[in-house]
Amino acid sequence: MAELRLRPVEDPRKFVSRMQSVMGMSKAGKLIDALNRRAKAHEKGDSSCDELIYELKNADLLTSTTMTGATEGETLKSIFTWVCDNREYFGENILEVGCENGIITCFLARQFPEAKITAVDRCAPAIEVAKLLAQRLNVTNAEFICCELSELPRRKYDTLLSSRVAHENHALISSPAVKGVEAQAELFKGCFSEYASLLAEFIGEEGSLLSVERTGRTSLFAGWLYALEEAGLVPCEGGYAEINSRELGSPANFQALVLRHGAVSADALSSLGIVFEDKIDLSLKAWKSWMRT
Ligand SMILES: C[S@@+](CC[C@H](N)C(=O)[O-])C[C@H]1O[C@@H](n2cnc3c(N)ncnc32)[C@H](O)[C@@H]1O
Repeated sequence: MAELRLRPVEDPRKFVSRMQSVMGMSKAGKLIDALNRRAKAHEKGDSSCDELIYELKNADLLTSTTMTGATEGETLKSIFTWVCDNREYFGENILEVGCENGIITCFLARQFPEAKITAVDRCAPAIEVAKLLAQRLNVTNAEFICCELSELPRRKYDTLLSSRVAHENHALISSPAVKGVEAQAELFKGCFSEYASLLAEFIGEEGSLLSVERTGRTSLFAGWLYALEEAGLVPCEGGYAEINSRELGSPANFQALVLRHGAVSADALSSLGIVFEDKIDLSLKAWKSWMRT
């Protein structure tokens, strides 16, 4: 973090001025416009502008690391701590899906110098930035590939890290807007099924999946867990942690899981001690991209 000068920002106005100072007024204006458009679109259930943001953000190494540091610096710090707390699950062959600018990849490469890390992302500029970052940090045990995870040749890894990627890989399903955590969890399971089984294809028999997602302790999280369970991946004992962070001055909480292949067990969820706090108001427009009601 210090080496990359990842400096989190609390005040959103300071974020704008920091981006202006690295990108210039005109490019920063385009980026901020795109971020605002995305926020508005998300409220209406349209998640289609993400690609443009990733492209603008990853135009060059400095812009990319400055933006990640400002917005997600605290979160990454917490993810790094969680990785270290779970180092026994990191084997010789590590696959990271959705590596973006490679900051997490380079951290893994340094933490696990004996490991070989394969990092994939579908955003070409992000992969170029990731390669530059690895060069800058003298990382030699990571390979970066630009592709959709579904296009990556199948092989089994000891460890797969999927950090904040599942929400960009869900299916749109048709359903009435049901109420109640259990009923909603069944729906969200359907949204996540394909991504969960794709991940399972890359995990060796004794391997582990480490997942970090921002779902809240809601029916969305329950659905993600059910989809993973359906794909044959069950949480390890003690394999659930809350990652509490701040992004641009607001709380940002993530649900982190360590999972392994195992028999589907009815009490796998209850053994984690998770208290699901909220069902989701599916009638909000924000869920339009998840559910055709
Ligand atoms: C929110 S960023 C997360 C970056 C990083 N993993 C982290 O936690 O900071 C999601 C990244 O995943 C990539 N991505 C999403 N779905 C993907 C897929 N199916 N295959 C490859 N890359 C994907 C996006 O291009 C983006 O760079």
